[in-house]
Amino acid sequence: MESNYNPFSLAGKTVLVTGASSGIGRETAIACSRMGATVVINGRDAERLQQTASQLAVPAAGQLVADLTSVDDVKGLVAALPPLDGAVLCAGNSTTLPLQFGSREKFDEMFNINFFAPVELLRLMYKKKILQKGASVVMIASIGGTHSFMPGNGVYGASKAALNSVMRYAAREFAPRKVRVNSICPGMVDTPLIHRGTITEEQLAEDAKRYPLGRYGQPADIANGAIYLLSDASSWLTGHDLVIDGGFSV
Ligand SMILES: NC(=O)c1ccc[n+]([C@@H]2O[C@H](COP(=O)([O-])OP(=O)(O)OC[C@H]3O[C@@H](n4cnc5c(N)ncnc54)[C@H](OP(=O)(O)O)[C@@H]3O)[C@@H](O)[C@H]2O)c1
Repeated sequence: MESNYNPFSLAGKTVLVTGASSGIGRETAIACSRMGATVVINGRDAERLQQTASQLAVPAAGQLVADLTSVDDVKGLVAALPPLDGAVLCAGNSTTLPLQFGSREKFDEMFNINFFAPVELLRLMYKKKILQKGASVVMIASIGGTHSFMPGNGVYGASKAALNSVMRYAAREFAPRKVRVNSICPGMVDTPLIHRGTITEEQLAEDAKRYPLGRYGQPADIANGAIYLLSDASSWLTGHDLVIDGGFSV
């Protein structure tokens, strides 16, 4: 029997990870490199991006500092990309804001980073044929886009719901070139994003009890899902939103 059989291996693949300077993106970049991929990492903060680079198992093929809400930065990033076998579009933000305060400006702010940025990147990577035949794209959405998981997340949730919608159309439209597009919808994951003070630590601890598996997610829980979606193990899967949430939305 073949001893090194591993359909989840990313050996030989080049994968872009945006938002790789923190949280889920950082863990995903590290995990992909441990599975044999060569990663290209993006973030806004050069120092934090360097911290990620220093933890990779295989040296990065690119360390691209870019603000994905800037049209020029996105153009520059795309011009610097090598041919890709995969991409995990993780850069994003959240806000806790009751809908009565959800002005058009607040929606624009959230949609700029959570929707327009990954969608423009996806569009350009496909149009410019940076995504190779057989490439796999993973969009990091959220259960906030599929459920009203916590009050005050309507603005955030709408941006992620819109992302999931585009994901499905892209999956259909890109399939002739065998480019797959899926998303992951995580429940609450323990990253700097959720410890910004808008929700107190006590509220977070209380909320975690609502998860059937008894805890919030760890970045590795999401990174492992991304590895599956990037790997040849999922080669017949496209247009799917993979919920990873400890059973919260069951
Ligand atoms: N944590 C959760 O509970 C949770 C749940 C569901 C979905 N998600 C989603 O998962 C993704 C990652 O979140 P996280 O929890 O890992 O958060 P995080 O630790 O705060 O990391 C966010 C990442 O996005 C990058 N980023 C933000 N704005 C950017 C911009 N304008 N241009 C380029 N990069 C930008 C940040 O870069 P810099 O640090 O360099 O600025 C950072 O690398 C987000 O899309 C988030 O909505 C998170």
